[in-house]
Amino acid sequence: MTTSADEGQFLNMLLKLINAKKTMEIGVYTGYSLLATALALPDDGQILAMDINRENYELGLPVIQKAGVAHKIDFREGPALPVLDALVEDEKNHGSFDFIFVDADKDNYLNYHKRLLDLVKPGGIIGYDNTLWNGSVVAPPDAPLRKYVRYYRDFVLELNKALAADPRIEICQLPVGDGITLCRRVK
Ligand SMILES: C[S@@+](CC[C@H](N)C(=O)[O-])C[C@H]1O[C@@H](n2cnc3c(N)ncnc32)[C@H](O)[C@@H]1O
Repeated sequence: MTTSADEGQFLNMLLKLINAKKTMEIGVYTGYSLLATALALPDDGQILAMDINRENYELGLPVIQKAGVAHKIDFREGPALPVLDALVEDEKNHGSFDFIFVDADKDNYLNYHKRLLDLVKPGGIIGYDNTLWNGSVVAPPDAPLRKYVRYYRDFVLELNKALAADPRIEICQLPVGDGITLCRRVK
């Protein structure tokens, strides 16, 4: 699901608060959350942005250019996992990101998490979007749900349990938009 206006404002505020400079976004679509992020970073800030679809990114790109923040974005077209694997392979990327926002294929969130913990700096934050998943995470098993909501619900539930039990992070789940879980790396 696309980031809502309140999520965009929230991201912008959070990034300013933590003085983020080097960030990553997995799942760009037309670039709404990307723009909110880019506007919050200093002029020499960087965002590594990944999406399997460049066309949608290019649809929103004129707005990002008009805002004068396109130079902060390094867009990579393709699945995020191989890019993360390449980053993890090079030790100099370890602990180098201040903030990472994940808003893509929910069935891969745990695969992302394994890699992102190496890449985010101690004290840095990973934000997982849609962790309330339309409220379906608290719906009874037989609740009538749209097909795609039902399909991804188990993945989101599994993620939420894994994050809550992970001693390497402190978490906070916020009822902003469709739910954002912030994970602060503590180890
Ligand atoms: C919910 S949209 C992102 C919305 C965006 N963050 C925003 O708030 O405006 C999810 C995006 O994830 C992308 N996506 C899906 N699978 C992906 C993958 N394996 N790697 C990278 N991006 C992926 C889709 O193409 C889609 O554009």
